[in-house]
Formats: sequence, C-alpha cells, structure tokens
Amino acid sequence: MGLDLARADLVVVGAGVAGLTAALHAAELGLRVVICNKGAAYSPESLQGAGSLEHSGRPVEHSTSTYYAQGGVAVVAPDDVDDSVELHLHDTLAAGAGLGDAEISREILADGWSAVSRLLGWGAQFDCDASGRFTRTREGGHSVRRIIHSGGDATGAQIQLALSEAVATVIRRGDVRVLDDCTVTRVLTVNGRAVGVAYLGADGPGVVHAPTVLLATGGSGHLFAATTNPAGATADGLALALRAGADVADLEFVQFHPTMLYTPGARGRRTLVTEAIRGEGGRLVDADGKSVTEGVHPLGDLAPRDVVANAVTAAMERTGHPCVYLDISAIDDFVTRFPTVTAGLRTAGLDPADGRIPVVPGAHYQCGGVFTDAHGRTTVAGLLAAGEVARTGLHGANRLASNSLLEGLVMGVRAADVAAMAGTDVVAEAIGSLGDEPGVEQVVDREVLQDAMSRFVGLRRDAEGLGRVAAMLDDASPRVLATRRDVEDAALTLAARAVVTAALARTSSRGCHVRTDEQYPGTDHHGTGEQRSRPFRLVDG
Ligand code: SIN
Repeated sequence: MGLDLARADLVVVGAGVAGLTAALHAAELGLRVVICNKGAAYSPESLQGAGSLEHSGRPVEHSTSTYYAQGGVAVVAPDDVDDSVELHLHDTLAAGAGLGDAEISREILADGWSAVSRLLGWGAQFDCDASGRFTRTREGGHSVRRIIHSGGDATGAQIQLALSEAVATVIRRGDVRVLDDCTVTRVLTVNGRAVGVAYLGADGPGVVHAPTVLLATGGSGHLFAATTNPAGATADGLALALRAGADVADLEFVQFHPTMLYTPGARGRRTLVTEAIRGEGGRLVDADGKSVTEGVHPLGDLAPRDVVANAVTAAMERTGHPCVYLDISAIDDFVTRFPTVTAGLRTAGLDPADGRIPVVPGAHYQCGGVFTDAHGRTTVAGLLAAGEVARTGLHGANRLASNSLLEGLVMGVRAADVAAMAGTDVVAEAIGSLGDEPGVEQVVDREVLQDAMSRFVGLRRDAEGLGRVAAMLDDASPRVLATRRDVEDAALTLAARAVVTAALARTSSRGCHVRTDEQYPGTDHHGTGEQRSRPFRLVDG
C-alpha cells in the first residue's frame, strides 16, 4: 500500500545530495518520508551518460546543483598515509578565513568516510587506478590530493544517479513518496513549531503534515544574472526558513567560482569549468598570456577560491579584457579526463584543442544559510536544514572546494537521525487547522533584482551600492504567489534582503565578502578582526 501523501514522519524539501541521503537513511530507520522535488520526475535516462546535459545535447535542465557538481568529494580515508582529518580541517578553516566553526567542522569532516561508504553501498562509484584505489585530484586550498571523483568530472551527476536509483527502489517498497514538480510555498507552524509544508503541485495546492521538515533545497545562485547553478537555485529554502522565523548567518559570503565559462551576454546557468583542471596542470593567464595569480598567494592558481576569483577580476581590470583564460595545453588527456567541461565547450562552439578556455568568475555557492547545530537543527523546533541551504559553520567566510557534497552526505544522515527521534503528536494536533491559500509578498522583478545584485552585491561591495539595493528592495511591489515563478521571485527578493542586510553589517572584508570601502583594507581578511559570525532573523516566527 502507498504512503499517505498528506502525512509523513519526515518531509524532505529538495532532491539533491542532502535531501536524498536523508530520505534514504530515514527509510532505513523505518520512517515514512515524502520528498518534495521541484524538478521533473526522476527517470534513469535523464541522468544517464557521462555527466551533464551537455553530454547528451538534450535541452534538459536538471533541477539540483548536485547534478552539476564536477570536481568531486573531499574526503580522508582511514588508511590515507599522506592525509588526515586534522590536515583537512586545517585547509577548511584556512580557506574559510578564520570564520569556520572548528568543532563542528572536525565532526563533519571526520564523518566523511562513513558517509562516502554509505553512498557506495547505495550504488555510487568513483574513479579508480589500476590497483583499485580511488584516484584523487586537487583543487584550490587543499594541501594534498584528497578529492575523489566519478566519470572524470561528472561526480555530481553520478552521485545524483546513484541516489535517485536507490530512492526509486525504496519507493517501490512504499516507504518513500516523491512529489515531483512540487514547489513548497510555506513551512506550516503551530506555536512556533514546524508541523509540515504547504506546496503548489502539478495538480494544484496541497499540504503534507509531518513532525519534522527538512530543508535541503540548495542555494541561491539566481540572485545573480550569471551563475553555475541550475534554474531551480532560487533561494527557496532560505526564504521558507526566514518566513518561519529561523535564524540565518554568514549570508554575506557568496562564493564566486573563479572559472565559469565566459559566454558573452548570457543570463542564467553557465557551464562550470572545474577547479580540478588547475589541479591537473591548467594555468590561469590573462589576455596578454601573463599568470593571473603569480605573487598573489603561495598556492598560486590553487589558492582558495575567494583569492583566485579576486585575482581574475583584477586581471580583467588590468587588461580591459572581458575574461581571462585557462591554459589547458599541458593536459594531454583533457577530453577523457574532463568530459563534462569538454561537452560544455562544444555546446558553446568552442574546442578544447584550442588549448585555452575563456573564463570569468560566476556566482556559485551560498557559504552561509539557515543557522543549524551539528545535527541540522535550526532555531525553529521541528525544522531542519542540510546541504547548501544550511549554515553549519563548516564553510566560514569561504567554502573549501569539494567540501559541499561531503557536507550534504554527512548532514543528510544526521538530519534523518534527528527525525527518527521526533514524536508524531504535534502533527495530530495541527491537522485540520491549517489553510493553504496563496500568500502575498513584496516582489522585485527577477531580472531587475539580478542586475542590481550583480552590480552592487557581487565580488566587491561598498555601503553606497548595498544601500541602493536595500532601497530597491524596500520599493518592491506586492504580488499574489499564484505560480511557481511567483514563489521563486518572492524567495529571491527575501533572500536578497537577507544577503544585503548581512553585507551591510560586515563593514570589513573577509573571505568572499570584499568591502572596497573598508577603513583598514586587508586587516580582517585573515580572521584577525573582531567581526565574528552573528546569526540574525528577518521575520519573527
Ligand atoms: C569545481 O569542480 O570546481 C567545483 C567544486 C566545488 O564547488 O566544490
């Protein structure tokens, strides 16, 4: 018999690595799970192949950022002789510019190997050498080669495929149901406690009641005009949490990936050009052929991402050229090692045989998010968050490359463990008392918002520009949230308000957040200043 869609033990909002990991582990623990998937129904065909949509040439957009992750999973195995959790922790905290939470980070990183082992049990595969050991690559900020990968640079797609297939098996057993094309509009609360969600589905509005709601909705790349994120990354979970009265933190730290494919004039998702290419010998050069990062950081092209993204911007300003180039001429097996990037280049009419790839920085990752403890609990009872939407303290002011899939795997499991401890009485009390009428919210037109965010809240900010965006947000017009697009636009508007609030509050530079108007430039960059992470809320729940 199928699971009752209106009632579950756990409702998971999002179907990427954190959400599906949580759903699978919760099913193992005997919970009834409903997954709200904003994307289309899972089909093996849509995920098969070496990686992204670029491989098949089909005009299909996948809804999760997990699917588009390329580099891999940063993880330390117990038998690694050249690496340790402490070294991984050191690199994570250094990349995070001193703002990461050392205790929580150590816990998450130490859990990494068992999370990867669980993923292998669900059918995932990683690339191996002739002796059967995982091959490892390097990315920015890592002091050793510790990143395992799959399908060359199709790691996220392979993980999404394995998790989606494992969920399909559990669905057949009846423990898990998936609502596809489902946009969650509200976290339902009673007396300040989450008791379910309201959603807009393919057949109209609906409600799922559950004593635990997990937000695993990914990030907010579409706050900006150009991003590596899929179309669904519209800050949905952040907005849901804010409306429920949850605390958020570190939202000023928007990570710009140094190497997004440069395609003039395009809006929306653009191809990521993985940092692992630099780990395998790629070099960043400006339009005159000069190194972009020489003299900038001891790790050169493999410096932490915030440092390289700023060096790329500086090189573009210096040369007046609209991009820099990733010189790949030293990588002999480029096409087989990086099939996803190769396909992306070809789709854009470029050829890897040219030996260089035009790149620019692009909005990539929300380092902050919904404030959680080490188990995914937010400040609202019954509401959990995991993956990119959450701020656990792992990323500090700048996420270390390839720590995100790892965090999603670890925190998905932890969230399911928390859900297994919740009772069901709260839900029984709430049923029948909750409506699902569409709300009305202040909304700024998406393209206007994206252009303003890109101009004033991008890699570099100052009080004047941030103030202009804040004023624009104050002038937003009310809109009935009748369609998915309306819900997404409202989420983007609310999230922009939170990001701008955080960026205005942090008056000096740190990690991804560069204030060009700071009084003592550079002093706070390395974590020596007093501005610690401060959770805040925009709405009282
Ligand atoms: C990349 O492959 O460069 C991106 C990996 C990440 O965002 O961690």
